[in-house]
Formats: sequence, structure tokens, C-alpha cells
Amino acid sequence: MDKIIVTGGGALNGQIPIAGAKNACLALMPASLLSDEPLTLTNVPRLSDIATMGALLRSLGVEVAGLADGRVLAMSGQGAENHVAEYDIVRKMRASNLVLGPLLARHGRAVVSLPGGCAIGARPMDIHVFGLEKLGAEIELREGYLHAGAPNGLKGAEIALAFPSVGATENIVMAATLARGTTVLKNAAREPEICDLAACLRAMGAQIEGAGSDTIVIKGVERLHGATHPVLPDRIELGTYMLAPAIAGGDVELLGGRADLLPTFCEKLAEAGITVEETEAGLRVARRNGRIRAVDVRTEVFPGFPTDLQAQMMALLCTADGESVLEETIFENRFMHAPELMRMGADIEVQGGTARVRGVRRLKGAPVMATDLRASVSLILAGLAAEGETVVSRVYHLDRGYEHVEQKLGGVGARIERVKE
Ligand code: UD1
Repeated sequence: MDKIIVTGGGALNGQIPIAGAKNACLALMPASLLSDEPLTLTNVPRLSDIATMGALLRSLGVEVAGLADGRVLAMSGQGAENHVAEYDIVRKMRASNLVLGPLLARHGRAVVSLPGGCAIGARPMDIHVFGLEKLGAEIELREGYLHAGAPNGLKGAEIALAFPSVGATENIVMAATLARGTTVLKNAAREPEICDLAACLRAMGAQIEGAGSDTIVIKGVERLHGATHPVLPDRIELGTYMLAPAIAGGDVELLGGRADLLPTFCEKLAEAGITVEETEAGLRVARRNGRIRAVDVRTEVFPGFPTDLQAQMMALLCTADGESVLEETIFENRFMHAPELMRMGADIEVQGGTARVRGVRRLKGAPVMATDLRASVSLILAGLAAEGETVVSRVYHLDRGYEHVEQKLGGVGARIERVKE
């Protein structure tokens, strides 16, 4: 298993290109099941999660070809005859559950193993099931698999979600594109990845309005056709790399970055004393001399502060002047990075869904262990400004969601290397 070694100290300067959004791509790829014609995605990030989704789709009979160094994915659902998503692939990644809606729409039946993924809480599928049942599916759980059938086909319905789940919204929207009649989805998730999926589905001939608001209206159509769609920039990778100069000092331009993808996060950085400016090519983040200010953060659905940036923000606040309170409202059990940061000298007290971070002047390098995707990158960020060497092990989590982290950070002057064990 690889390790990453970060030697702290030294400001970061230069440019970091932002890749296509992992989470958008993981929802866009299953849309290939909705048509017999090819779906081509461009600006695809090269990540192990994308490879896992590719393997899952292949197992369902989709032809998946990576072109242009894997930056372009050409998928054809024409021969996709299998409707069973096996545990062996699904357990690697929760987003595998995004084949449920498309499989149901295509075959009128689907058998999908309950997913795995990051160990950040229970993460049930009840909202997905509720929505798909409203569309006419009959779903039951047997031996770890969801068995879904729509004997009379899917039919448009009015659906009000108990919580605006991102994955449930994506599954329901995809299923509804081919349902008979109109679906009105209320309390839908508003994340930019939902808008990206809706844009792609519209390019395939779907009739969808309201994506990005809390009510999405989908008029079912007979069939969808092929399309080519560019994946939107990854706002979580963007926010992560915005925090690199914020933590280490310096001035970095994030190529392809957009402030509208991270409104609350950008406000919080400004509150902490970090300069964020829009440039022609993206966003520029600078930290001048002096300590940053403590800020309070509460994770919320979009446009609130993203839960996927909470661990990285905590790494920043470890050395702020004063006490910051971080409240995690989306997932339980998402402070597994806190004890690791404490090994580096951070002063953090976790109680339930709240972490109090009392800023210290400097963190110290230590051997630490990554426990999930975002936690692992938060330890690398913390290591950028820590005294001495930070050795992050179990970086396979990192490779699920960040491509070439050592090249991207090394390119702006960070001392970072990957060692094979
Ligand atoms: C997506 C993102 C993930 C991000 C999360 C929240 C992808 C591939 N992943 O995950 O990186 O952290 O949004 O922004 O896009 N819940 C239920 N029942 C359900 C569904 C969800 O109780 O049926 C709960 C979950 O346990 C969790 C919360 O709702 O506590 C948010 O989950 P959801 O919005 O569905 O996240 P994901 O789509 O899994």
C-alpha cells in the first residue's frame, strides 16, 4: 500500500488545474443505461472510483471505452442485458447505487446489492426506495440485495423527499425520464452535480425543468438518444486545493475553478482572512502574513458548506487564532480525521456532531492514517504547514477521489512524495 510523505513549511505558488467532478461523473455514467445510442463524456477525471463505475457498467453489458488518456469515456448501452449489480463491485463504492433507477427504467427490473463506500455513517437507501416506489416500482430487500420490479412500467408521480438526498434525486430523475407521464420531485437536492446530470439528460432528449431548484419536473419520453457531454469541474477538488495556500501560505490560481460552485465555502475563507478572487482562468487564492481567524462552520446541503470539505476545513482551522466550532449535519461519524489531526498537535474536542477546534500556532508532522477519502486529503493539507514530516498511510482512499495529488501540489512547490511499500 502506498504512503504519502509531506514535508511542511514553504509557501505555495503557481497554478493547479481542476479536474472534472467525480461525483457528477458517477451519476452521468449510469445514464448510459437509459439509451441504446452512445453517451460520450469529456473532461472525465482519472480516478479509481470512475474505474469502479466503468467495471460495474461493463458487468451490466454496457460497452465502456476510455479515450484520450481516459479523459473521454465513450459508453454504449445497446447490449446492456444484465439487470443485476453484484455485491463484489457495488461494495467498493456507494455511488454504485446510481444504477438502480436507470436499470429499472430500462428493464423494468433491477437487482442491486446494498452499497459500501466510505465508512462515514449508516447511509441507508430508504429515500431512493421511497421515490422509486412512488414511480410504481415494487422493491424488497433480500439477502443484501434490493430486488426492484415495475411490472406495469414506471409512471410519473408527485414525490416529496423527506431529505434532499443527492443520490436519491439522481436515481429518481433518471428513472422518471422514461416513465409514462409527468413526475414532480419536491425537496430535491440542488447540488451542481444534479444540474450537470439534468443538462446531460436533456442533451439525450429528456424533458427536465427546475434542476438546481428544490422542485424538478420531468416529463417522461419514449426514448433517449446519444449525446456528448462535458463533466463540470470538481468543486470538492477545487475547495481542497483552495485550502492548500490558505494553510501553507502563498498564492495559487485554480484553473477552471468557479466561485458559484462553492458560495458558502468562499465566504468562510474570506471570513478567515483568505483572499479569494475570480480570474479569467479560474480562482486565485492567497494568504499573506499573519494567522488566520477562527470561523464557525456548519455543513449543509447546497448552497451551504459542503460536508465533503469539512475535514479539509478543519485542517485549516487547527492553526487559526481562536476557537472554531464545526458542526456536521449531513453524516454522523464524520470526524474520524480529528484524532489523526490531534496526533499532529491539534487541539480538538469532538462531541457528537460538533467539533471544537482551538487553534495552535503550529502543527507537528507525525505518522497518520487516512480513514476515508476526504479525511485522507485533510491530513496531507495539515502536513503542508506542519513542522517536519507527515507520513499518511492507507492512501488508496485518496486515489478514489484525487488524481495525481502529489503532482498537483508538487507543481506549486509543496514537498510531497509517494512511496510504495
Ligand atoms: C453524495 C456524494 C457525497 C456527499 C453527499 C452529500 C456522490 C457520489 N456522493 O452522496 O460525496 O458527501 O452527496 O453531499 O455524489 N440518506 C438517507 N437515506 C437515503 C439516502 C441518504 O438517510 O436513502 C442520508 C445519508 O445517510 C446521509 C444524508 O442522507 O446522512 C446525505 O446523503 P445523500 O445526499 O444521499 O448523499 P450521497 O448521494 O450518498
